[in-house]
Amino acid sequence: MRAEDGFSRDAARSHARAIRRRWERELATLVELPSVSVDPARAGDIRRAAAAAARLIRALGGEASIVPTGGHPLVHGRFQRDRRFPTVTVYNHLDVQPAGEPEWRSDPFRFTRRGDRYVGRGTTDDKGPALAALFGARYAMDRDVPLNVQFLWELEEEIGSPHFEPTIRRHRRGLATDAVIVSDTIWVSRRQPAVPAGLRGLQGFRLTLRTGTTDQHSGTTGGVARNPVAELAELVASMLDARTGRVKIPGFYRDVVPPTRQELAHLRRSGFSVARFKRDHGFRSLRTGDALDAMQRLWCRPTLEVHGIAGGYQGPGVKTVVPPAATAILSCRLVPDMDPATVRRQVRDFVRRHAPDVEVAPEHELAPFRGHTRGLHVDAIRAAVRFAFGRDPVFVREGGSIGAVDSMERVLRAPVHFLGLSLPEHGYHAPNEYFDWRQAEGGILAFAKYFEYVGAQYVAAEHVARERGATR
Ligand code: BES
Ligand code: MN
Ligand code: MN
Repeated sequence: MRAEDGFSRDAARSHARAIRRRWERELATLVELPSVSVDPARAGDIRRAAAAAARLIRALGGEASIVPTGGHPLVHGRFQRDRRFPTVTVYNHLDVQPAGEPEWRSDPFRFTRRGDRYVGRGTTDDKGPALAALFGARYAMDRDVPLNVQFLWELEEEIGSPHFEPTIRRHRRGLATDAVIVSDTIWVSRRQPAVPAGLRGLQGFRLTLRTGTTDQHSGTTGGVARNPVAELAELVASMLDARTGRVKIPGFYRDVVPPTRQELAHLRRSGFSVARFKRDHGFRSLRTGDALDAMQRLWCRPTLEVHGIAGGYQGPGVKTVVPPAATAILSCRLVPDMDPATVRRQVRDFVRRHAPDVEVAPEHELAPFRGHTRGLHVDAIRAAVRFAFGRDPVFVREGGSIGAVDSMERVLRAPVHFLGLSLPEHGYHAPNEYFDWRQAEGGILAFAKYFEYVGAQYVAAEHVARERGATR
């Protein structure tokens, strides 16, 4: 096929429709394997999910292997066409968050179809996008796009990718690639595709205060006994202004790089709406009503979040005890150029000064990521989104974190780009998480087009290089 011919949208769309049942069956298989990476009891399901994923890649004509990591395995797949062709690696994750929320209207680990929606844990984060990318790649390969495509499917993303970097370092040669494309991010809204030009990083913490050994009667001990729940609540409250979100830990904002004028211009044009954000996420009220302020808070500024404070009595009525211990689970989202190690030190020092017997255990540690907004792949992504969804994407940033991204850039020395397919209302990590056929079909088309474009550009570049060589 000549590059300038290009895939026809109609042909690609009717192909996607023809394989729809197959695609749904594969998603059902993966969703019904509860690959909850944080839950040790699910290790067997994780292994089965990895095996099912590898089987699927092989069934589609690829090679696949399951790479041990010391933790949950990594799936490495490959559609290898010709060693002389460039290689693009697709990254997704197949592990999921727990799904214990009481609001689920169906079993989170039963694949449930409601019209064009697919409900279940992991449908949008990130099994649905993984399968859209896979089938899009297959389509491109079958139409002789001059590329090799690799797949890296992680099963520890939702726990901060603790073994990813050492594993890809060990297998660096076999994973050699010219570029990486990640499909694990969300759009601004269904009408507004978005490509992140950066991700926030993360530094998690568990704070524990133990002042006793068991519950004690609050009548016989209260007044003398320390109260760990109250002390920990006070410590947490002293770390930030809870209303505005302003973090009060000294030096916290020191390394924050403010958005450039150009980035701000992109934000203004992004179509973000506070009202829609509020609706999509089911909020009653917010810290700000201003769209630009909201986008900067979400994408360009660091946060300190309290995920939970636990300790003491939680049952019916009142149980008059002084509890012996309390725990707070916190994390900071980080933006360029913040460094997780610096934030760890700042939080430790702050806690030591204000509450010396509170223990600080650092958790996930993910560097912030600054992405690319220019070049061949960005052009390919723009063309792909336009081809599949009829709209140009905006280049904003993303508030979430993906540990593997920074590792892949550094270890594989290949640029990482994003082609996300999820929508805010799909409900990442939320009850009744879903994905939908519109995004899946568009995703298959977008990935097919992305590969076609990249293949054609590499061929053109090589052609130019050859001509230059010949005239020297
Ligand atoms: N897909 C998300 C990352 C993401 C979140 C992208 C929001 C765009 C918007 C990913 O699966 C995720 O949830 N990452 C975790 C990592 C953490 C548990 C170490 C996150 O961001 O909290
Ligand atoms: Mn994800
Ligand atoms: Mn997630």
